Amino acid sequence: MIYLIGFMGSGKSTIAGKLSDELNLPYIEMDKAIEEKEKMPISDMFAQFGETYFRKCETHLLKSINEESVVSTGGGVILKEENQDYLSTGTVVFLRASWNTIVSRLQNDQDRPLWKGDLTEKQAIFAVRQPIYESLAHQIIDVDNKSPEEIVNEIMARL
Ligand code: S3P
Repeated sequence: MIYLIGFMGSGKSTIAGKLSDELNLPYIEMDKAIEEKEKMPISDMFAQFGETYFRKCETHLLKSINEESVVSTGGGVILKEENQDYLSTGTVVFLRASWNTIVSRLQNDQDRPLWKGDLTEKQAIFAVRQPIYESLAHQIIDVDNKSPEEIVNEIMARL
């Protein structure tokens, strides 16, 4: 299993799609799969049932993927220790984007429930998560100023 991890806006979905083509493996976008199963957008899920409910769905889905795939995870999947342990059984690729890159990519984003409000609060979330992504990663790929093709080639060369 190949898990792409990284902060919101780091490009996990785009890269996972292309990587799955290269490797001829199925591609799973966890957020999309959760939305399909729960029949509602993630933002509604957060609003109606809260983050804890979403995290339960996320862990459940993570553990239910049994076909070898390229998995684009949600940015917060690394928060639970049980998920960390589970991810470690596959190949974990961290797409590391700088804070400035994240901000410029998400500046007009309206959909993500945790990308709201004060920039300082969001930067605090980023700062807490960064060392977790790094410690879990088998590969760390710096993505700033690189095309998706360059990023995919880099991952492929290191698999
Ligand atoms: C989250 C990231 C989102 C989504 C949810 C929570 C997070 O996924 O899972 O909104 O905690 O960082 P992306 O990383 O695909 O935006």
